Formats: sequence, C-alpha cells, structure tokens
Amino acid sequence: MAKELTKMDKIISLCKRRGFIFPGSEIYGGLANSWDFGPLGVELKNNIKRAWWKEIVQKRDDVVGLDSSILTPKIVWEASGHLENFTDPLVECKKCHQRFRSDKIEGKKCPDCGGELTEGKKFNLLMKTHLGAVEGSQDEAYMRGETCQGIYLNYLNVKESMRKKLPFGVAQVGKAFRNEITPGNFIFRTREFEQMEMQYFVSPKEANEYYQEWKDWTFDWYKNLVYRPENLRLRQHEKDELAHYAKEAWDVEYKTPFDDWSEFAGIHNRGDWDLSRHGKYSGADMNYTDEETKEKFIPYVDEVSMGADRAVLLFLIDAYDEVETRSGGENAVHETEIVLRLHKNLAPIKVAILPLSKKEELSQPAKEIYHDLQKYFMCQYDETASIGKRYRRQDEIGTPYCVTVDFESLEDKKVTVRDRDTMKQERILISELTDWLKDKLD
Ligand code: GAP
Repeated sequence: MAKELTKMDKIISLCKRRGFIFPGSEIYGGLANSWDFGPLGVELKNNIKRAWWKEIVQKRDDVVGLDSSILTPKIVWEASGHLENFTDPLVECKKCHQRFRSDKIEGKKCPDCGGELTEGKKFNLLMKTHLGAVEGSQDEAYMRGETCQGIYLNYLNVKESMRKKLPFGVAQVGKAFRNEITPGNFIFRTREFEQMEMQYFVSPKEANEYYQEWKDWTFDWYKNLVYRPENLRLRQHEKDELAHYAKEAWDVEYKTPFDDWSEFAGIHNRGDWDLSRHGKYSGADMNYTDEETKEKFIPYVDEVSMGADRAVLLFLIDAYDEVETRSGGENAVHETEIVLRLHKNLAPIKVAILPLSKKEELSQPAKEIYHDLQKYFMCQYDETASIGKRYRRQDEIGTPYCVTVDFESLEDKKVTVRDRDTMKQERILISELTDWLKDKLD
C-alpha cells in the first residue's frame, strides 16, 4: 500500500513542482541538504527580507544597514568565542559510521543500525577555508558562522561615519555557514543559510528595557505576517541552553509538522561579551563615553536574529491549505485543491492576468494590461487551460489577485478581479485597475 504523504512531503513536492525550491546539484545526484531557490522561491525570500528591512531599517531612525564580508580571519572567531564554544557533541556508529548529535538521540546504540557508538567528542561547527594559492595556516580563513560578527567588527566604523549615539542598531542580511552534524527537515537546518540580524548597542543600564522591546518587536513581526498566529509562541531558554555569549535568550517558535514547536528566531541579550572580546583581541578601544553623564563603558548588545530560509519554511508551512474544489457547480468533482494563504506582501506573484480566450481580440488587451501592471507588481500572464484550472494554478502559488479579461471587457472597459481567499469577484474599470491594486497590495 502506498505510504500516505505527510504535510512536509506535500510542501516539498509543491516547492519543486511550482518552482519554489529545488534540491541542490540535482543533475549530479544532489548534494545532501543543499537547496536552490527557484523563480518563485527567490521572490518569496526577497519579499521576506524586504519586509524585514523595511520595518527594522527603513522605518526607524535608530537602525542602519550593513553588508560585511563572509570571509574573516581566524582571530575573529577566537575573539568571539566560537572556536572554543561553538561545538555540538558528536558520536559515531562504529558499524555504519553514521554520525549523530549525542544530545539528540536516546539510548547508547546507533538509531540506524543498532551498532555501538563511540565516546562523545566536541565537534566545531565553523567552516574553514584557504585563501590564495598556497595552503598553510597563514592563509586560513573562516566563513562566518553568524552574520552579527561583521557588525561588531564595524561597530566603530558605523558609529563614526554615521555620527551615531547610543542607543543605535545595525542590521544585516546575508549568508552564514555551519558544519551541522544533523542537517535536515528540508530547509530548516542546512549548512549554508541566510540570516537577518540586528545588533542594538545600548548602555548597560538600559539593556534590559530595550531587550523586552526587541523581544516584542520580533514576535509581532511574525505575527503580522502569518495566517495562523495561534501556532506562534515565545519561549525562554533554560540556563543550560544558553549560548556562550548570551545572558538571556528567547526563541520565537512555530508549531511545525515535523518537530512540534521549533525555533525560527532568537532574541539575545549578549551583554558586553562581543565588544569587550573584540576590543581585547584587536586592541581597538570599544569604550563609549556618555556625553551627558561622562560615564565610560563598553556598550551592551540586544540582538534580533532570524533565519531567512527558515522564515521561508515558516511562511510556507503556515500558508499551506487544502480545500475541496471551489470552482464548478454542485455536480463538479470535488477534488482537493491547494491554496497558499501567503500574506500579500510575501506572495511571489501579486497579480495574474488571464484572458478568457486565447483569441487575439482578448489576448491583445490582456497583454496590454499585463505590461502596464508589470511596472508596479510581479505579474504572470496565463492563457492556457480552462479558467478554473488557471485559478487553481495561481491559488497554489499564493497569488492574491487574478484579473480576468472577457468579451464584456471589450464593451464596458472593465475586468473581473478575483480575490484568492474570499473568491469574491469584482468588476473594476481598466483605467482604475492599477490604483485599485496598489491600494489593496500596499
Ligand atoms: N547571532 C545569533 C545566532 O546566530 P542562532 O540561534 O545560532 O543565533 C539564529 O541562529 C537563527 O539563524 C536561528 O533562529 C535560525 O532561524 C537560523 N539558523 C541557525 N542555524 C541554522 C541552520 N543550520 N540552517 C538554517 N537556519 C539556521
């Protein structure tokens, strides 16, 4: 009997079939746990990153942006404490040589073959590489394990060049690399991924107050964009879970089909750990003098850290919905249809333009509308298959609005706009369509 597909199987299959996410290096048999974002996936991920940047940088006076290098010298990671502490406990099966995180398995035998396991050892997650033609310790460099280190390295540059006073934040979006022992669950845990991180520099006295604000900010950011807010929660780290740099940490968790409550973002009070250590290792003076009180101190850091790929997964899981056929009369075959209930700001395609017939008298004005709308929104033009099938194609990828051009349009200069969620159809004057959509999609 065929195995019943899980929700994750269905989401992974939809992602491949509709151009969201493909297995990495697939034509060569694939590189395990690497994924490539296809035409719709890159739109979705860019929309997520844009939505984050707009709220955290564009709309604020106290946060600025940065784009720092991925490659960094070893001393950065000695100073940050990652070379010493950024480890997972590793055990290996003596029989099948499969490796596991010892804190994630139960019992003392290999979960795959029942073989005996080695003693646990610490496995560092940083990825090392070599620069230039000659290999040697002089040329050793590290791919950053978290993007925020680039922010600390540029703290003084940003403060001076932008004439910033505390409190202020620096945000950046970019790739990070970790040699995870057990990557998996689709794009949830990979070895190459993107982070969206913001470091807020504050006086030690105000660190707690701002920490609470950023915790709420992070939770609200997700809450405003999800369809099912009841699946979101904040959870505080226990003392033994805290990373080496954290005084306090909370995670934003979402209820996933694969692991119940799972971490999607972290908000950390990092104290003066990072700036003190980089000051010590580099010799740079990280002290800040308060102009009014003349107090001198190393700023504390409140951090917002989110995975961009992980956010893509959250919004896909959250938006995935199955409904019975919604088009056709009572006698229509009621098959299961997929609707991606993505927030309008995140949907990869905002508007689909669908002429009711391929005949030129309809396709020509429909293409004109399409080219007009393309200046403002990501659009798709589709004239193949029945209108019901074309609506279903758009529902599956989460397109909020479908615009149908029919023979009546030639007379009354109006088109039908269908809403993905309510399925309500409205006749809108073609001359007013752009403004109508701008209003709905902003
Ligand atoms: N700068 C703090 C930091 O990096 P983290 O909890 O290790 O903290 C922050 O990571 C976020 O980065 C996580 O909440 C997750 O969204 C994302 N992330 C971490 N490891 C990941 C991985 N292997 N694959 C995908 N995303 C990951």
